[in-house]
Amino acid sequence: MAGYVVVGAQWGDEGKGKVVDLLGTHMDMVVRFQGGNNAGHTLVVNGKKTVLHLLPSGIMNEKADCIIGPGVVVNPFVLLSEIDTLEKEGHSCSNVKISDRAHLLMPYHIRLDELMEQRAGAGKIGTTKNGIGPCYADKYTRIGIRVCDLKDWDVFQEKLKSVLELKNEEITKIYGGEPFDYDEMVKQFDEIRPRIVPMICDAVDKVNKALDSGKKVLFEGAQANMLDINYGTYPYVTSSSPTSAGVCVGAGVSPFKLGRVFGVAKAYSTRVGEGPYPTEQINAVGDELREKGFEYGATTGRPRRTGWLDLPVLKQAVRLNGLTDLAITKIDILSGFDSIPVCTGYEIDGKVYDTIPASLKDYGKAKPVYVNLPGWQEDISHVEKWEDLPENCRSYIKYIEDYTGVKACLVSVNPDRTGSIILKDLL
Ligand code: GDP
Ligand code: IMO
Ligand code: MG
Repeated sequence: MAGYVVVGAQWGDEGKGKVVDLLGTHMDMVVRFQGGNNAGHTLVVNGKKTVLHLLPSGIMNEKADCIIGPGVVVNPFVLLSEIDTLEKEGHSCSNVKISDRAHLLMPYHIRLDELMEQRAGAGKIGTTKNGIGPCYADKYTRIGIRVCDLKDWDVFQEKLKSVLELKNEEITKIYGGEPFDYDEMVKQFDEIRPRIVPMICDAVDKVNKALDSGKKVLFEGAQANMLDINYGTYPYVTSSSPTSAGVCVGAGVSPFKLGRVFGVAKAYSTRVGEGPYPTEQINAVGDELREKGFEYGATTGRPRRTGWLDLPVLKQAVRLNGLTDLAITKIDILSGFDSIPVCTGYEIDGKVYDTIPASLKDYGKAKPVYVNLPGWQEDISHVEKWEDLPENCRSYIKYIEDYTGVKACLVSVNPDRTGSIILKDLL
């Protein structure tokens, strides 16, 4: 089957960008299907680091079409500045296309995200403040403005006029914020229109034609199952479906066209923003993981919360996505611990579970049940072969495989494209 999927298997920031870049060198097309510029996907090629927010991480392969799919929320200003940065560095972005059906993330979405978080105070979600929730909300209340509307300037202006009136009322009357000027916003969009319109395409047709002609198409997930709107720690989630099912609705393809589903999992865990996180280490160990793993958000720069590996979370990822492969990243960061606790279940009110409870009250009470796996001391960040990994490191990986029932296709030992031990054919 020609459809490949890469998804996060924890709380995001697992190293999806690195894995997509690696696979992307063999792909004809790379497609984002959900989320927006809340994502921060890091690629390191020949020591050069690039962080992408909206552009698919296949962009380094100039032969691959890079599609921003129908399910994505697109901030066109961010997109253009990302393209400008890459083009200044000599990368062509002529292969970038945007779905006509994608929703435009508007300046008022960003302001509302900020105001809503501010008003929530201690109850805030800890969003990236990029307007993601308010944009998806408008999509579902059917007052969104879509990318195709930029092609018909009268339609765009008409829609903006009526929506902005409503949004300004919400901004000023509910939140006491600053309203937007309609003419000013029309001018801003009119200025970027000539650059956006040539990139607009019927992505559903393009992606399906590619799949039907046997081309290799990779679907790049942003965020992860624990931030999923339906299955994450609601309301501390994002507003889209970052699972493989999200590919079908967010890219317009049948589930029968998807083959391999790669779940990217960090060898420990991190989370950005608020919400329950049972294996979190708010202590010296957590600080050590943050400093060694350089755990600071690729989008907001916020320090990431850090903790031990949570296997019920991975098990949920396997189920929700139908993972065929695990890509285990950042195992190099675990060198130097005498033993490494791994969470195999949660004790809640005296009973042990290996599933994620819906109620945040219950999940907040969850006490992780740990097994302590023996650690290793060696620096493994330049190891190239499975046999050269310390025995305890191999056992750690095997433990994850046994618990989840899914084999690892690669183990990543440093951030570079070349820094992975490949355990089975990736294509
Ligand atoms: P994404 O959102 O899933 O694409 O992940 P991010 O890019 O937000 O965060 C992953 C971070 O880990 C980035 O800084 C990567 O360069 C880095 N990284 C990826 N794989 C490895 C690895 O195996 N070892 C180390 N030390 N860093 C890695
Ligand atoms: P990538 O693709 C980690 C988190 C935010 C917040 C919650 C909601 O790089 O893995 P939002 O702005 O989406 O409304 O924020 O989700 N979040 C992420 N955390 N990685 C991400 O993306 C994230 N995108 C959103 O921190 O807790
Ligand atoms: Mg990230």
